[in-house]
Amino acid sequence: MLYPLVQISYIVASILFIMGLKQMGRPKTAVRGNLLGASGMLLAVVMTLVWVANGGMSDEAVSFWFIGAGVILGAGIGAVLAMRVQMTQMPQLVALFNGFGGAASVFVAAAELFSRSGGEVMTGDVLIATAASGIIGAVTFWGSLVAFGKLQELSWMKKPFKVPMQHVVNGGLTAIIVLLTIGMLNSNSIGMHITLYIFIALLASVLGVLLTNPIGGADMPVVIALLNSYSGLAAAATGFVIDNNVLIIAGSLVGASGVILTQLMCKAMNRSLFNVLFGVMDAGGSGGNADEIYANVRSTSAEDVAMILETAQRVVFVPGYGMAVAQAQHAVRNLGKLLEERGATVEYAIHPVAGRMPGHMNVLLAEADVDYDKLLEMDTINPTMDTCDVAIVIGANDVVNPVAKTDPKSPIAGMPIIDVDKARTVIIIKRSLSPGFAGIPNPLFAADNAMMLYGDGKDAVLEITTALREA
Ligand code: TAP
Repeated sequence: MLYPLVQISYIVASILFIMGLKQMGRPKTAVRGNLLGASGMLLAVVMTLVWVANGGMSDEAVSFWFIGAGVILGAGIGAVLAMRVQMTQMPQLVALFNGFGGAASVFVAAAELFSRSGGEVMTGDVLIATAASGIIGAVTFWGSLVAFGKLQELSWMKKPFKVPMQHVVNGGLTAIIVLLTIGMLNSNSIGMHITLYIFIALLASVLGVLLTNPIGGADMPVVIALLNSYSGLAAAATGFVIDNNVLIIAGSLVGASGVILTQLMCKAMNRSLFNVLFGVMDAGGSGGNADEIYANVRSTSAEDVAMILETAQRVVFVPGYGMAVAQAQHAVRNLGKLLEERGATVEYAIHPVAGRMPGHMNVLLAEADVDYDKLLEMDTINPTMDTCDVAIVIGANDVVNPVAKTDPKSPIAGMPIIDVDKARTVIIIKRSLSPGFAGIPNPLFAADNAMMLYGDGKDAVLEITTALREA
């Protein structure tokens, strides 16, 4: 009686996931979508626990109290992280979440394999799913740890390095992993299955590091989206191992949405998925000598910027990672409102990889109650940038770096940028001339129509607002 009820609750949970995902596609319904997805997961977890409590899982190693303790421990860690982690550290946290998802798949598949000791061997299809859990899960975990290090901007991880003959090594490792999987399929010994699985997971761990490590510069968005997708695929494979429908469906949804996000990120960065998968993205250029590039940089003051804004008809804000660091979104919204009260048109140009996670700028500006219809995507705003009187670049760097169009050796070569250089006047607010995530100088700062306003993003915008009010 309980089994059909559990299966029906899994179907309801899956419907909630799908509805949640659909609603998360629009900013206005995203919060509701998130709640729907979370309710689906709660339902699935509660029903699984009820099932376990009623002896639903045959294996005596599964204890209700053990699972309950895990849930409480996990929820406790999650709550502390959610309260402590800064908004700017969210991308690193998401990278870790992806990684832990992958690691969980490796361990769950291993536990199922180990539980067979002395019992029935797995059938061929389940063995393939087990190997897939181990391979994709281990690649995801170690790849995500490398991504975490890069996003955390750990100094020893910032510069991508390649081992000699990287592609040959990666190809060799992949071939050995495939052979070990075939070995698993051809063996009838559970002991052999376990041994081969351990080797598969270890080699896949090395592969995860080698695949992610050479990717540097500005290409991390693609990697994060891909690892996100991998974590879903690993979970789906594990769903087949333990014969759990909701895990198969949830994993497939994460995998599929991750693939869609990967495609969007590839488009945003103008990269092909082949380049991403085989790590041939960084052409190794350093972007030139900063002292020479910055020889003619002009700086300005908040009062001077206010004077320029007094007569501006159309102002475009171009936010980037620095706006998140400075938490300047509310100050930016207030300056925008003031400009509108004075008769100017105000818009916000959103680059798809501005910040450190997909939708980062949208989330910040939505939090500050900026109207969604004022947020214009790069492809929409670029053709109109030449009618912009003042472009205010706040904490953005790589996403407005014209080198992307001019230097094929640069780490951001080919990435579309927001064409702020076409605006009549460009004001760049940042604390110094230091580079952005890609680590290269930005000739925009020395352009004839550009002026630097040095300072913390929030302080600088507040000063401009005060000066404009007093004008
Ligand atoms: P970045 O190129 O990283 O530049 C951010 C700039 O903000 C820095 O140059 C920094 O200069 C400035 N800044 C930092 N703190 C500030 C503060 N308190 N006040 C004012 N300015 C501050 O940012 P971007 O233009 O948004 O580009 C994003 C980069 O991250 C791209 O390379 C992208 O590929 C990469 N990335 C994106 C994602 C996603 S999915 N969005 C994920 C991973 C990586 P100062 O230190 O001089 O102030």
